[in-house]
Amino acid sequence: MKINMDSIKILKDVLDSTDYSLSEKFFNNINKKFSYKIAFYSFLDVLTKKRFMFFRIKKSCKNKKLLVTYKLFLMSKKVTIEESKLLFSENELDVLIKDKLVIRVDNSIFSNYVILPYENKYFLIDNCYGKRNKYLVYSGPETILFLNNIKNIIFSNQKFNILDVGTGPGTIAINMMEKAKNITACDINKRAIDFAKINLMLNKIPKNRIRVKKCNYEKLLTKYKFDLIVSNPPFLAFPQKTKKTVPIYANGGKNGLEFTSQLIKNFYNSKSRRLFLVIMTGNNIIEILNRYNMKIEINVIREHSKYFIYNIYKNVFNLTREEIKEVSENFEENNIDRFYTYVIYIKKGSKKIKINTLYKLPIMIKFIENLYFKFKCL
Ligand SMILES: C[S@@+](CC[C@H](N)C(=O)[O-])C[C@H]1O[C@@H](n2cnc3c(N)ncnc32)[C@H](O)[C@@H]1O
Repeated sequence: MKINMDSIKILKDVLDSTDYSLSEKFFNNINKKFSYKIAFYSFLDVLTKKRFMFFRIKKSCKNKKLLVTYKLFLMSKKVTIEESKLLFSENELDVLIKDKLVIRVDNSIFSNYVILPYENKYFLIDNCYGKRNKYLVYSGPETILFLNNIKNIIFSNQKFNILDVGTGPGTIAINMMEKAKNITACDINKRAIDFAKINLMLNKIPKNRIRVKKCNYEKLLTKYKFDLIVSNPPFLAFPQKTKKTVPIYANGGKNGLEFTSQLIKNFYNSKSRRLFLVIMTGNNIIEILNRYNMKIEINVIREHSKYFIYNIYKNVFNLTREEIKEVSENFEENNIDRFYTYVIYIKKGSKKIKINTLYKLPIMIKFIENLYFKFKCL
């Protein structure tokens, strides 16, 4: 995937001139703790395939230019050529169309990409909603939760030699740059590496500031010593029959935990001292962590009902009812009934496990989700 410098400049000018960063609060809405409202919003967004998010944006955004930018790059919605004139000149639009950053259909354009904002930076990612292409490139709410969380725990003045395992579009690596003496961002997916390089340019980061490598992380971990490994690994379980069309970014292997257990094991056997992870899974992760003699702090950030997860399979990955049933049987075999977003901090040292529960799903939301999703998905 190639995008030329002119397109990136046009994109950056539009985003800067529209206060696009403000849209962070729509993406980031699950970040706050203990709020019924936030849980309810997330529920409605999955339920209405993000139409609810759009409704909220429309209601709170009075600036026409900003609304068109949100429509195009946050919501992946069509905008008319007339509306697009608020953002681009005719020439600029031609450049973006040529680079396939936007697609023209009759009298409208739409974007194949989403731009995720975080702390005045922009991250071009694929629009993954409803798609099952193997090479899609993703960053999402748990990436943001992770970045917010890592800020609180890490480390006053120390600077580290960091490895970002599965960097995807580079969101974590780019946001951790200031904490790093050296930072290496690796991904097995060539398309992800292309995105990471584009995002370095979009955020005006010199090429030599982050080492971006297309490779399996295991290769780097055996060869080099890192002070800190960070990762938002692939963590979902998919039915066996559909493996070929499952995106690499989401496929956590058997039970969704195969990739993560291997990562923890590799870390344990490596010379590296610290591992920071974000993962959405069932309670069985605790059992895996318990196998090791290490200092572990587990922050339970969110609780999800299994019906909420089924709806992600349905709306985000387009799994059929039969496929979701297979996933659900797998969960039942493993006694998994509830899911959580965990941010896990592991340090080499003598064994000590601390669990902080920061967020519990409100009873009312549990009740509505169970009722609705059960009826809708299974
Ligand atoms: C959930 S995505 C996370 C993307 C990014 N870190 C973020 O949070 O925005 C997981 C990433 O891991 C990558 N990946 C999967 N297996 C890998 C491996 N063995 N070595 C390196 N990267 C891998 C995928 O291609 C994908 O980009």
